[in-house]
Amino acid sequence: MYIRISALLVLALALAVPMAQAGRKDKGPKNQTPPTANPAVSEDKAPEDAGPKAPKLFPDGLPVAHQQLPEGVASLSAQSCNGCHYEIHDTWAQSGHRSARTGEPFATALAATGNSPLCTSCHTPLLNQQQQLVREYTGGPLGEALTDPNESWDATLSAEGVTCAACHVRDEVVIGSRPASGAPHPVAVSEELGESSFCASCHQLTWEGAEQPLYNTYGEWAESNYAAAGVQCQDCHMPPRSGLVTAGSFASHRDHGFDAAQGRALTLLLDVPPSGVVRGEALSGTLTVMNTGAGHAFPTGSPFSSAVLQIAVVDAEGKDSGEPWESVLERPTSMEPPYESMGEDTTLKPGETRVLPFTLTPSQKSEGGRGAIEVRVLRQSPTGERTVSQVQRIPLAVN
Ligand code: HEC
Ligand code: HEC
Ligand code: HEC
Ligand code: HEC
Ligand code: HEC
Repeated sequence: MYIRISALLVLALALAVPMAQAGRKDKGPKNQTPPTANPAVSEDKAPEDAGPKAPKLFPDGLPVAHQQLPEGVASLSAQSCNGCHYEIHDTWAQSGHRSARTGEPFATALAATGNSPLCTSCHTPLLNQQQQLVREYTGGPLGEALTDPNESWDATLSAEGVTCAACHVRDEVVIGSRPASGAPHPVAVSEELGESSFCASCHQLTWEGAEQPLYNTYGEWAESNYAAAGVQCQDCHMPPRSGLVTAGSFASHRDHGFDAAQGRALTLLLDVPPSGVVRGEALSGTLTVMNTGAGHAFPTGSPFSSAVLQIAVVDAEGKDSGEPWESVLERPTSMEPPYESMGEDTTLKPGETRVLPFTLTPSQKSEGGRGAIEVRVLRQSPTGERTVSQVQRIPLAVN
Protein backbone atom coordinates (compact mmCIF):
# COMPACT_ATOMS: atom_id res chain seq x y z
CA MET A 1 0.00 0.00 0.00
CA TYR A 2 2.98 2.33 0.43
CA ILE A 3 4.19 4.24 -2.59
CA ARG A 4 7.87 4.29 -3.49
CA ILE A 5 9.52 7.30 -2.02
CA SER A 6 12.22 9.40 -3.65
CA ALA A 7 15.21 10.67 -1.67
CA LEU A 8 13.70 14.14 -1.50
CA LEU A 9 10.44 12.77 -0.26
CA VAL A 10 12.25 10.75 2.39
CA LEU A 11 13.61 14.01 3.74
CA ALA A 12 10.13 15.45 3.63
CA LEU A 13 8.84 12.48 5.56
CA ALA A 14 11.59 12.94 8.06
CA LEU A 15 10.23 16.36 8.74
CA ALA A 16 6.72 15.38 8.15
CA VAL A 17 3.88 14.12 10.11
CA PRO A 18 0.93 11.92 10.11
CA MET A 19 -2.10 10.23 9.17
CA ALA A 20 -4.38 9.62 12.05
CA GLN A 21 -5.25 11.94 14.89
CA ALA A 22 -4.74 10.70 18.44
CA GLY A 23 -7.69 8.56 19.32
CA ARG A 24 -9.05 8.69 15.78
CA LYS A 25 -8.96 5.47 13.84
CA ASP A 26 -10.30 6.95 10.62
CA LYS A 27 -7.84 7.96 7.96
CA GLY A 28 -6.98 11.64 7.90
CA PRO A 29 -9.23 14.61 8.31
CA LYS A 30 -12.50 13.79 6.59
CA ASN A 31 -14.59 16.61 7.96
CA GLN A 32 -13.94 18.99 5.12
CA THR A 33 -17.56 19.93 4.88
CA PRO A 34 -18.45 23.40 3.59
CA PRO A 35 -19.49 26.41 5.72
CA THR A 36 -22.50 24.88 7.42
CA ALA A 37 -20.91 22.62 10.03
CA ASN A 38 -22.52 23.01 13.43
CA PRO A 39 -20.29 21.81 16.28
CA ALA A 40 -22.01 20.16 19.19
CA VAL A 41 -22.41 22.26 22.31
CA SER A 42 -20.20 21.12 25.18
CA GLU A 43 -21.64 19.64 28.33
CA ASP A 44 -19.42 21.86 30.51
CA LYS A 45 -21.42 23.16 33.44
CA ALA A 46 -20.70 26.87 33.86
CA PRO A 47 -22.33 28.96 36.59
CA GLU A 48 -25.24 31.18 35.47
CA ASP A 49 -23.17 34.39 35.57
CA ALA A 50 -20.23 32.90 33.66
CA GLY A 51 -21.54 34.06 30.28
CA PRO A 52 -22.60 31.88 27.38
CA LYS A 53 -21.08 28.39 27.17
CA ALA A 54 -18.62 27.77 24.37
CA PRO A 55 -19.04 24.97 21.86
CA LYS A 56 -16.45 22.18 21.78
CA LEU A 57 -13.34 23.55 20.11
CA PHE A 58 -12.38 20.53 17.98
CA PRO A 59 -15.59 18.46 17.68
CA ASP A 60 -14.40 16.74 14.50
CA GLY A 61 -10.63 16.94 14.90
CA LEU A 62 -8.69 18.99 12.35
CA PRO A 63 -9.22 21.00 10.24
CA VAL A 64 -11.85 23.07 12.04
CA ALA A 65 -15.14 23.80 10.21
CA HIS A 66 -15.46 27.03 8.22
CA GLN A 67 -15.81 30.02 10.57
CA GLN A 68 -17.78 33.25 10.09
CA LEU A 69 -16.92 36.66 11.47
CA PRO A 70 -18.13 37.46 15.03
CA GLU A 71 -20.07 40.72 15.36
CA GLY A 72 -17.84 43.67 16.30
CA VAL A 73 -14.72 42.28 14.61
CA ALA A 74 -13.65 43.59 11.19
CA SER A 75 -11.86 40.47 9.95
CA LEU A 76 -10.84 37.01 11.13
CA SER A 77 -7.21 37.99 10.46
CA ALA A 78 -4.91 38.49 13.46
CA GLN A 79 -4.38 41.99 12.07
CA SER A 80 -7.86 42.99 13.22
CA CYS A 81 -7.36 41.52 16.74
CA ASN A 82 -4.10 43.52 16.76
CA GLY A 83 -6.10 46.74 16.79
CA CYS A 84 -7.01 46.07 20.44
CA HIS A 85 -5.08 43.05 21.77
CA TYR A 86 -1.72 44.28 20.59
CA GLU A 87 0.56 42.90 23.31
CA ILE A 88 -0.83 39.42 22.76
CA HIS A 89 -0.58 39.92 19.00
CA ASP A 90 3.07 40.92 19.14
CA THR A 91 4.16 37.92 21.23
CA TRP A 92 2.11 35.52 19.08
CA ALA A 93 3.69 37.08 15.96
CA GLN A 94 7.13 35.85 17.17
CA SER A 95 5.90 32.32 17.93
CA GLY A 96 6.14 29.04 16.05
CA HIS A 97 2.35 29.15 15.76
CA ARG A 98 2.53 32.28 13.60
CA SER A 99 5.15 30.72 11.32
CA ALA A 100 3.47 27.29 11.16
CA ARG A 101 2.61 27.86 7.46
CA THR A 102 5.36 30.20 6.28
CA GLY A 103 8.31 28.75 8.22
CA GLU A 104 10.99 27.33 5.94
CA PRO A 105 11.05 23.76 7.38
CA PHE A 106 7.30 23.35 6.92
CA ALA A 107 7.12 25.09 3.54
CA THR A 108 9.83 22.77 2.19
CA ALA A 109 8.34 19.62 3.71
CA LEU A 110 4.84 20.50 2.47
CA ALA A 111 5.99 21.14 -1.09
CA ALA A 112 7.76 17.78 -1.10
CA THR A 113 4.52 15.99 -0.17
CA GLY A 114 2.76 17.63 -3.13
CA ASN A 115 0.79 19.86 -0.73
CA SER A 116 -0.83 17.02 1.20
CA PRO A 117 -4.07 18.27 2.81
CA LEU A 118 -3.12 16.19 5.85
CA CYS A 119 -0.26 18.56 6.57
CA THR A 120 -2.24 21.76 6.24
CA SER A 121 -4.94 20.47 8.60
CA CYS A 122 -2.91 21.40 11.72
CA HIS A 123 -0.50 24.00 10.33
CA THR A 124 -3.44 26.05 8.91
CA PRO A 125 -6.24 24.71 11.12
CA LEU A 126 -9.41 26.43 9.79
CA LEU A 127 -11.23 25.33 6.64
CA ASN A 128 -11.13 29.04 5.65
CA GLN A 129 -7.33 28.59 5.45
CA GLN A 130 -7.42 25.52 3.16
CA GLN A 131 -6.71 26.30 -0.49
CA GLN A 132 -8.12 22.94 -1.58
CA LEU A 133 -11.01 20.96 -0.10
CA VAL A 134 -10.78 17.19 0.03
CA ARG A 135 -13.45 15.43 -2.02
CA GLU A 136 -12.11 11.96 -1.38
CA TYR A 137 -8.99 10.38 0.08
CA THR A 138 -7.54 7.90 -2.38
CA GLY A 139 -5.16 6.11 -0.01
CA GLY A 140 -1.38 6.20 0.17
CA PRO A 141 0.91 6.97 3.09
CA LEU A 142 0.61 10.74 2.77
CA GLY A 143 -3.14 10.93 2.45
CA GLU A 144 -3.29 11.41 -1.32
CA ALA A 145 -6.66 12.92 -2.17
CA LEU A 146 -8.93 14.24 -4.90
CA THR A 147 -9.49 17.91 -4.16
CA ASP A 148 -11.56 20.89 -5.36
CA PRO A 149 -10.54 24.54 -5.08
CA ASN A 150 -11.96 26.13 -1.92
CA GLU A 151 -14.13 29.02 -3.15
CA SER A 152 -13.99 30.67 0.28
CA TRP A 153 -10.23 30.32 0.72
CA ASP A 154 -8.82 33.25 2.71
CA ALA A 155 -5.24 33.70 1.46
CA THR A 156 -4.29 36.23 4.16
CA LEU A 157 -5.59 34.07 6.98
CA SER A 158 -3.86 31.05 5.49
CA ALA A 159 -0.42 32.66 5.74
CA GLU A 160 -1.02 33.33 9.45
CA GLY A 161 -0.69 29.61 10.28
CA VAL A 162 -2.06 28.80 13.75
CA THR A 163 -3.83 32.16 13.91
CA CYS A 164 -5.94 33.73 16.71
CA ALA A 165 -9.23 32.56 15.18
CA ALA A 166 -8.00 28.94 15.00
CA CYS A 167 -8.02 28.85 18.80
CA HIS A 168 -10.53 31.63 19.61
CA VAL A 169 -13.40 31.80 17.09
CA ARG A 170 -16.25 29.29 16.83
CA ASP A 171 -19.86 29.81 15.69
CA GLU A 172 -19.45 33.60 15.28
CA VAL A 173 -18.37 33.92 18.93
CA VAL A 174 -14.95 34.71 20.43
CA ILE A 175 -13.96 31.91 22.83
CA GLY A 176 -12.28 33.07 26.04
CA SER A 177 -11.38 31.60 29.40
CA ARG A 178 -13.40 34.07 31.49
CA PRO A 179 -16.51 36.21 30.93
CA ALA A 180 -15.76 39.58 29.31
CA SER A 181 -18.92 41.64 29.19
CA GLY A 182 -16.93 44.76 28.26
CA ALA A 183 -15.77 43.25 24.99
CA PRO A 184 -17.00 44.75 21.70
CA HIS A 185 -17.50 41.20 20.41
CA PRO A 186 -19.46 38.29 21.90
CA VAL A 187 -17.37 36.10 24.26
CA ALA A 188 -18.21 32.56 25.31
CA VAL A 189 -16.34 30.83 28.13
CA SER A 190 -14.57 27.55 27.52
CA GLU A 191 -12.89 25.50 30.24
CA GLU A 192 -11.27 23.48 27.48
CA LEU A 193 -9.04 26.43 26.52
CA GLY A 194 -7.12 26.16 29.80
CA GLU A 195 -6.51 22.41 29.61
CA SER A 196 -3.68 20.31 28.16
CA SER A 197 -6.19 18.33 26.09
CA PHE A 198 -6.75 21.49 24.03
CA CYS A 199 -3.05 21.51 23.00
CA ALA A 200 -3.20 17.75 22.42
CA SER A 201 -5.54 18.34 19.47
CA CYS A 202 -2.41 19.20 17.49
CA HIS A 203 0.48 18.09 19.73
CA GLN A 204 -0.43 14.39 19.93
CA LEU A 205 -0.49 12.22 16.86
CA THR A 206 -0.36 8.53 16.00
CA TRP A 207 0.10 7.56 12.37
CA GLU A 208 -2.32 4.94 11.14
CA GLY A 209 -0.84 1.47 11.57
CA ALA A 210 1.88 2.61 13.99
CA GLU A 211 2.44 0.97 17.36
CA GLN A 212 3.46 4.16 19.09
CA PRO A 213 2.70 7.86 18.63
CA LEU A 214 4.79 9.95 16.27
CA TYR A 215 4.20 13.02 18.44
CA ASN A 216 3.69 12.14 22.08
CA THR A 217 3.98 15.42 24.01
CA TYR A 218 0.54 15.10 25.57
CA GLY A 219 1.02 11.37 26.32
CA GLU A 220 4.33 12.07 28.06
CA TRP A 221 2.71 14.84 30.09
CA ALA A 222 -0.31 12.68 30.97
CA GLU A 223 1.94 10.11 32.66
CA SER A 224 3.93 12.71 34.60
CA ASN A 225 3.65 14.14 38.09
CA TYR A 226 2.72 17.45 36.47
CA ALA A 227 -0.52 15.97 35.19
CA ALA A 228 -1.17 14.42 38.62
CA ALA A 229 -0.62 17.83 40.20
CA GLY A 230 -2.89 19.54 37.67
CA VAL A 231 -0.11 21.56 35.99
CA GLN A 232 -1.28 22.16 32.41
CA CYS A 233 0.71 22.98 29.25
CA GLN A 234 -0.63 26.55 29.53
CA ASP A 235 0.90 26.99 33.02
CA CYS A 236 4.43 26.66 31.63
CA HIS A 237 4.00 27.80 28.02
CA MET A 238 1.53 30.66 28.63
CA PRO A 239 2.58 32.14 31.98
CA PRO A 240 0.64 35.20 33.17
CA ARG A 241 2.12 38.55 32.14
CA SER A 242 1.03 41.92 33.37
CA GLY A 243 0.29 44.43 30.67
CA LEU A 244 -2.37 45.40 28.23
CA VAL A 245 -5.12 42.87 27.63
CA THR A 246 -6.66 45.44 25.31
CA ALA A 247 -5.86 49.08 24.63
CA GLY A 248 -6.74 50.92 27.83
CA SER A 249 -7.24 47.81 29.95
CA PHE A 250 -4.33 46.72 32.15
CA ALA A 251 -4.57 43.29 33.69
CA SER A 252 -2.72 40.04 33.71
CA HIS A 253 -2.90 38.10 30.46
CA ARG A 254 -1.46 34.86 29.18
CA ASP A 255 1.83 35.01 27.28
CA HIS A 256 1.24 34.06 23.64
CA GLY A 257 4.89 33.39 22.70
CA PHE A 258 4.15 29.73 23.68
CA ASP A 259 7.86 29.06 24.02
CA ALA A 260 9.32 27.84 27.30
CA ALA A 261 12.69 29.42 28.06
CA GLN A 262 15.54 27.40 26.63
CA GLY A 263 17.73 26.01 29.35
CA ARG A 264 14.88 25.54 31.81
CA ALA A 265 14.29 21.89 31.08
CA LEU A 266 17.50 20.32 32.42
CA THR A 267 19.60 20.39 35.58
CA LEU A 268 23.19 19.38 34.75
CA LEU A 269 25.56 18.40 37.59
CA LEU A 270 29.20 17.73 36.75
CA ASP A 271 31.39 15.60 39.00
CA VAL A 272 35.13 15.73 38.17
CA PRO A 273 38.16 14.85 40.32
CA PRO A 274 39.83 17.83 42.05
CA SER A 275 43.15 16.87 40.50
CA GLY A 276 42.05 18.81 37.41
CA VAL A 277 42.87 18.48 33.74
CA VAL A 278 46.21 17.30 32.38
CA ARG A 279 46.84 17.54 28.62
CA GLY A 280 47.15 14.16 26.96
CA GLU A 281 45.73 12.33 29.99
CA ALA A 282 42.23 10.85 30.22
CA LEU A 283 39.80 12.77 32.40
CA SER A 284 36.94 10.76 33.89
CA GLY A 285 33.89 11.81 35.86
CA THR A 286 30.13 11.69 35.84
CA LEU A 287 27.42 13.94 34.48
CA THR A 288 24.11 13.78 36.32
CA VAL A 289 21.30 15.04 34.12
CA MET A 290 17.78 15.61 35.40
CA ASN A 291 14.66 16.69 33.57
CA THR A 292 13.51 19.15 36.21
CA GLY A 293 11.72 21.69 34.04
CA ALA A 294 9.82 20.15 31.13
CA GLY A 295 6.36 18.70 31.70
CA HIS A 296 7.10 16.03 29.09
CA ALA A 297 10.13 14.22 27.70
CA PHE A 298 13.23 16.20 26.73
CA PRO A 299 13.38 16.58 23.83
CA THR A 300 9.70 16.22 22.87
CA GLY A 301 7.67 16.61 19.68
CA SER A 302 9.11 15.51 16.37
CA PRO A 303 11.36 12.41 16.73
CA PHE A 304 13.42 13.65 13.79
CA SER A 305 14.93 16.35 15.98
CA SER A 306 17.18 15.36 18.89
CA ALA A 307 19.28 16.82 21.69
CA VAL A 308 22.99 16.16 22.35
CA LEU A 309 24.71 16.46 25.72
CA GLN A 310 28.33 17.42 25.26
CA ILE A 311 31.30 17.79 27.61
CA ALA A 312 34.43 19.52 26.32
CA VAL A 313 37.73 20.68 27.76
CA VAL A 314 38.31 24.23 26.59
CA ASP A 315 41.90 25.49 26.52
CA ALA A 316 43.30 28.91 27.38
CA GLU A 317 42.52 30.13 23.88
CA GLY A 318 38.87 29.15 24.23
CA LYS A 319 39.16 26.25 21.78
CA ASP A 320 37.94 22.70 22.32
CA SER A 321 40.91 20.54 23.31
CA GLY A 322 40.49 17.09 21.75
CA GLU A 323 37.17 15.46 20.90
CA PRO A 324 34.24 16.34 23.17
CA TRP A 325 32.33 13.52 24.89
CA GLU A 326 28.72 13.13 23.71
CA SER A 327 25.47 11.46 24.66
CA VAL A 328 22.42 11.70 22.38
CA LEU A 329 18.85 12.10 23.66
CA GLU A 330 16.60 10.78 20.91
CA ARG A 331 13.69 8.57 19.95
CA PRO A 332 14.95 6.80 16.81
CA THR A 333 12.05 6.43 14.37
CA SER A 334 11.84 5.13 10.81
CA MET A 335 11.58 7.87 8.22
CA GLU A 336 8.62 6.38 6.39
CA PRO A 337 5.00 5.82 7.37
CA PRO A 338 3.89 4.36 9.68
CA TYR A 339 6.99 5.64 11.53
CA GLU A 340 7.99 2.65 13.64
CA SER A 341 10.45 2.74 16.53
CA MET A 342 14.02 2.00 15.36
CA GLY A 343 15.83 1.70 18.66
CA GLU A 344 16.08 2.66 22.29
CA ASP A 345 14.26 5.82 23.40
CA THR A 346 16.93 7.83 25.25
CA THR A 347 14.87 11.00 25.79
CA LEU A 348 14.61 12.05 29.45
CA LYS A 349 11.14 11.52 30.89
CA PRO A 350 9.71 14.28 33.09
CA GLY A 351 11.40 14.05 36.50
CA GLU A 352 13.92 11.44 35.32
CA THR A 353 17.50 11.47 36.62
CA ARG A 354 20.32 9.81 34.64
CA VAL A 355 23.93 9.40 35.76
CA LEU A 356 26.34 9.26 32.82
CA PRO A 357 29.99 8.30 33.31
CA PHE A 358 32.29 10.07 30.85
CA THR A 359 35.92 10.01 29.78
CA LEU A 360 37.65 12.44 27.47
CA THR A 361 41.26 13.18 26.66
CA PRO A 362 42.35 16.78 26.13
CA SER A 363 44.82 17.17 23.29
CA GLN A 364 48.51 17.16 24.14
CA LYS A 365 49.03 20.02 21.69
CA SER A 366 46.51 22.48 23.12
CA GLU A 367 47.29 25.69 25.02
CA GLY A 368 47.78 25.23 28.77
CA GLY A 369 46.79 27.71 31.48
CA ARG A 370 43.37 29.04 32.31
CA GLY A 371 40.86 26.69 30.79
CA ALA A 372 37.44 25.30 31.54
CA ILE A 373 35.15 22.33 31.26
CA GLU A 374 31.99 23.11 29.33
CA VAL A 375 28.77 21.14 29.61
CA ARG A 376 26.57 21.90 26.60
CA VAL A 377 23.10 21.03 25.40
CA LEU A 378 22.80 21.11 21.61
CA ARG A 379 19.61 20.82 19.56
CA GLN A 380 19.98 18.84 16.34
CA SER A 381 17.60 19.40 13.40
CA PRO A 382 16.41 16.63 11.05
CA THR A 383 19.10 17.73 8.57
CA GLY A 384 21.81 17.45 11.24
CA GLU A 385 22.35 21.16 11.92
CA ARG A 386 23.32 21.80 15.51
CA THR A 387 22.62 24.85 17.66
CA VAL A 388 23.77 25.37 21.24
CA SER A 389 20.80 25.87 23.57
CA GLN A 390 22.48 25.75 26.98
CA VAL A 391 26.11 26.08 28.21
CA GLN A 392 27.58 25.64 31.67
CA ARG A 393 31.21 26.72 32.04
CA ILE A 394 33.30 25.53 34.97
CA PRO A 395 36.74 27.23 35.18
CA LEU A 396 39.56 24.69 35.57
CA ALA A 397 43.27 25.07 34.82
CA VAL A 398 44.57 22.92 31.96
CA ASN A 399 47.99 21.61 32.97
C1 HEC B 1 -12.26 46.82 19.11
C2 HEC B 1 -11.38 46.17 20.08
C3 HEC B 1 -11.30 44.64 20.01
C4 HEC B 1 -11.09 43.85 18.91
C5 HEC B 1 -10.91 44.24 17.45
C6 HEC B 1 -11.00 42.49 19.40
N1 HEC B 1 -11.19 42.47 20.76
FE1 HEC B 1 -11.18 40.87 21.94
N2 HEC B 1 -11.71 41.98 23.56
C7 HEC B 1 -11.77 43.36 23.56
C8 HEC B 1 -12.13 43.82 24.89
C9 HEC B 1 -12.28 45.26 25.34
C10 HEC B 1 -12.27 42.66 25.67
C11 HEC B 1 -12.65 42.59 27.15
C12 HEC B 1 -11.39 42.57 27.98
C13 HEC B 1 -11.67 42.40 29.45
O1 HEC B 1 -12.82 42.32 29.84
O2 HEC B 1 -10.69 42.34 30.18
C14 HEC B 1 -12.01 41.52 24.79
C15 HEC B 1 -12.04 40.19 25.20
C16 HEC B 1 -11.51 39.15 24.45
C17 HEC B 1 -11.32 37.79 24.90
C18 HEC B 1 -11.70 37.25 26.26
C19 HEC B 1 -10.80 37.82 27.27
C20 HEC B 1 -10.64 37.02 28.51
O3 HEC B 1 -10.25 37.64 29.48
O4 HEC B 1 -10.85 35.78 28.49
C21 HEC B 1 -10.74 37.08 23.89
C22 HEC B 1 -10.32 35.63 23.91
C23 HEC B 1 -10.60 38.00 22.79
N3 HEC B 1 -11.07 39.23 23.15
C24 HEC B 1 -10.08 37.62 21.55
C25 HEC B 1 -10.13 38.43 20.43
C26 HEC B 1 -9.76 37.98 19.10
C27 HEC B 1 -9.23 36.59 18.77
C28 HEC B 1 -9.97 39.03 18.26
C29 HEC B 1 -9.78 39.04 16.74
C30 HEC B 1 -10.53 38.02 16.00
C31 HEC B 1 -10.45 40.12 19.06
N4 HEC B 1 -10.57 39.73 20.37
C32 HEC B 1 -10.77 41.38 18.59
C33 HEC B 1 -11.54 44.18 22.48
C34 HEC B 1 -11.36 43.76 21.18
C1 HEC C 1 -4.48 24.09 15.93
C2 HEC C 1 -3.27 23.33 16.20
C3 HEC C 1 -2.46 23.68 17.42
C4 HEC C 1 -2.91 23.90 18.72
C5 HEC C 1 -4.34 23.84 19.25
C6 HEC C 1 -1.73 24.15 19.51
N1 HEC C 1 -0.60 24.10 18.73
FE1 HEC C 1 1.31 24.41 19.34
N2 HEC C 1 1.98 24.15 17.43
C7 HEC C 1 1.19 23.80 16.35
C8 HEC C 1 2.01 23.66 15.16
C9 HEC C 1 1.52 23.27 13.77
C10 HEC C 1 3.33 23.95 15.56
C11 HEC C 1 4.60 23.87 14.72
C12 HEC C 1 4.91 25.16 14.09
C13 HEC C 1 6.12 25.00 13.17
O1 HEC C 1 7.23 25.11 13.68
O2 HEC C 1 5.92 24.75 11.98
C14 HEC C 1 3.27 24.27 16.99
C15 HEC C 1 4.37 24.64 17.77
C16 HEC C 1 4.35 24.78 19.16
C17 HEC C 1 5.52 25.01 19.99
C18 HEC C 1 6.94 25.22 19.50
C19 HEC C 1 7.04 26.70 19.39
C20 HEC C 1 8.23 27.24 18.72
O3 HEC C 1 8.31 28.49 18.72
O4 HEC C 1 9.07 26.49 18.20
C21 HEC C 1 5.09 25.04 21.29
C22 HEC C 1 5.94 25.22 22.53
C23 HEC C 1 3.64 24.85 21.27
N3 HEC C 1 3.22 24.71 19.96
C24 HEC C 1 2.85 24.81 22.40
C25 HEC C 1 1.45 24.73 22.38
C26 HEC C 1 0.62 24.79 23.56
C27 HEC C 1 1.12 24.93 24.97
C28 HEC C 1 -0.67 24.66 23.13
C29 HEC C 1 -1.94 24.69 23.96
C30 HEC C 1 -2.16 25.92 24.73
C31 HEC C 1 -0.65 24.55 21.68
N4 HEC C 1 0.66 24.59 21.27
C32 HEC C 1 -1.77 24.40 20.88
C33 HEC C 1 -0.17 23.61 16.36
C34 HEC C 1 -1.01 23.80 17.46
C1 HEC D 1 -1.90 16.70 14.22
C2 HEC D 1 -1.41 17.96 13.76
C3 HEC D 1 -0.30 18.00 12.71
C4 HEC D 1 -0.34 17.46 11.44
C5 HEC D 1 -1.46 16.67 10.78
C6 HEC D 1 0.94 17.80 10.84
N1 HEC D 1 1.70 18.52 11.73
FE1 HEC D 1 3.60 19.21 11.41
N2 HEC D 1 3.72 19.80 13.34
C7 HEC D 1 2.68 19.75 14.24
C8 HEC D 1 3.16 20.20 15.54
C9 HEC D 1 2.33 20.28 16.82
C10 HEC D 1 4.53 20.53 15.37
C11 HEC D 1 5.50 21.04 16.44
C12 HEC D 1 6.05 19.84 17.21
C13 HEC D 1 7.46 19.99 17.62
O1 HEC D 1 7.89 21.04 18.10
O2 HEC D 1 8.20 19.00 17.47
C14 HEC D 1 4.84 20.28 13.97
C15 HEC D 1 6.10 20.47 13.41
C16 HEC D 1 6.39 20.27 12.08
C17 HEC D 1 7.67 20.57 11.47
C18 HEC D 1 8.90 21.12 12.19
C19 HEC D 1 8.86 22.60 12.04
C20 HEC D 1 10.10 23.27 12.59
O3 HEC D 1 10.03 24.50 12.68
O4 HEC D 1 11.07 22.60 12.95
C21 HEC D 1 7.57 20.25 10.13
C22 HEC D 1 8.63 20.39 9.06
C23 HEC D 1 6.23 19.71 9.93
N3 HEC D 1 5.54 19.76 11.13
C24 HEC D 1 5.75 19.24 8.71
C25 HEC D 1 4.54 18.59 8.56
C26 HEC D 1 4.13 17.90 7.34
C27 HEC D 1 4.97 17.81 6.07
C28 HEC D 1 2.91 17.37 7.58
C29 HEC D 1 2.09 16.46 6.67
C30 HEC D 1 2.70 15.21 6.27
C31 HEC D 1 2.53 17.75 8.95
N4 HEC D 1 3.55 18.50 9.50
C32 HEC D 1 1.31 17.42 9.55
C33 HEC D 1 1.39 19.32 14.02
C34 HEC D 1 0.98 18.66 12.87
C1 HEC E 1 -2.71 27.92 19.94
C2 HEC E 1 -3.91 28.55 20.43
C3 HEC E 1 -3.97 30.05 20.60
C4 HEC E 1 -3.68 31.01 19.67
C5 HEC E 1 -3.12 30.82 18.28
C6 HEC E 1 -4.01 32.28 20.28
N1 HEC E 1 -4.48 32.08 21.55
FE1 HEC E 1 -5.23 33.52 22.81
N2 HEC E 1 -5.40 32.12 24.27
C7 HEC E 1 -5.17 30.78 24.12
C8 HEC E 1 -5.39 30.11 25.38
C9 HEC E 1 -5.22 28.62 25.63
C10 HEC E 1 -5.80 31.12 26.29
C11 HEC E 1 -6.24 30.96 27.74
C12 HEC E 1 -5.22 30.43 28.66
C13 HEC E 1 -5.81 30.18 30.02
O1 HEC E 1 -6.54 31.06 30.50
O2 HEC E 1 -5.53 29.13 30.58
C14 HEC E 1 -5.80 32.38 25.56
C15 HEC E 1 -6.18 33.62 26.11
C16 HEC E 1 -6.40 34.77 25.34
C17 HEC E 1 -7.02 35.99 25.81
C18 HEC E 1 -7.62 36.20 27.18
C19 HEC E 1 -6.77 37.01 28.08
C20 HEC E 1 -5.73 36.16 28.70
O3 HEC E 1 -4.60 36.29 28.26
O4 HEC E 1 -6.05 35.35 29.58
C21 HEC E 1 -7.04 36.87 24.78
C22 HEC E 1 -7.57 38.31 24.81
C23 HEC E 1 -6.43 36.20 23.65
N3 HEC E 1 -6.05 34.92 24.02
C24 HEC E 1 -6.27 36.77 22.42
C25 HEC E 1 -5.55 36.17 21.37
C26 HEC E 1 -5.18 36.85 20.15
C27 HEC E 1 -5.53 38.29 19.83
C28 HEC E 1 -4.49 35.96 19.39
C29 HEC E 1 -3.80 36.17 18.05
C30 HEC E 1 -2.89 37.32 17.99
C31 HEC E 1 -4.46 34.70 20.12
N4 HEC E 1 -5.09 34.87 21.33
C32 HEC E 1 -3.89 33.51 19.64
C33 HEC E 1 -4.81 30.12 22.97
C34 HEC E 1 -4.44 30.73 21.78
C1 HEC F 1 6.48 22.05 33.79
C2 HEC F 1 6.48 22.95 32.66
C3 HEC F 1 6.01 22.42 31.30
C4 HEC F 1 4.81 21.80 31.02
C5 HEC F 1 3.68 21.40 31.98
C6 HEC F 1 4.81 21.59 29.59
N1 HEC F 1 5.97 22.05 29.02
FE1 HEC F 1 6.47 22.01 27.06
N2 HEC F 1 8.36 22.62 27.52
C7 HEC F 1 8.79 23.01 28.78
C8 HEC F 1 10.22 23.29 28.71
C9 HEC F 1 11.08 23.76 29.88
C10 HEC F 1 10.63 23.03 27.37
C11 HEC F 1 12.04 23.08 26.80
C12 HEC F 1 12.44 24.38 26.28
C13 HEC F 1 13.84 24.21 25.67
O1 HEC F 1 14.80 24.02 26.41
O2 HEC F 1 13.92 24.23 24.44
C14 HEC F 1 9.43 22.63 26.65
C15 HEC F 1 9.40 22.32 25.28
C16 HEC F 1 8.22 22.08 24.56
C17 HEC F 1 8.15 21.93 23.12
C18 HEC F 1 9.35 21.93 22.18
C19 HEC F 1 9.72 23.32 21.82
C20 HEC F 1 11.02 23.33 21.07
O3 HEC F 1 11.67 24.39 21.10
O4 HEC F 1 11.40 22.33 20.45
C21 HEC F 1 6.83 21.73 22.80
C22 HEC F 1 6.25 21.51 21.40
C23 HEC F 1 6.08 21.73 24.04
N3 HEC F 1 6.96 21.95 25.08
C24 HEC F 1 4.71 21.56 24.14
C25 HEC F 1 4.05 21.29 25.34
C26 HEC F 1 2.69 20.78 25.44
C27 HEC F 1 1.77 20.53 24.27
C28 HEC F 1 2.44 20.59 26.78
C29 HEC F 1 1.22 19.98 27.43
C30 HEC F 1 0.84 18.63 26.97
C31 HEC F 1 3.63 21.03 27.51
N4 HEC F 1 4.57 21.43 26.61
C32 HEC F 1 3.75 21.01 28.91
C33 HEC F 1 8.01 23.11 29.91
C34 HEC F 1 6.74 22.56 30.04
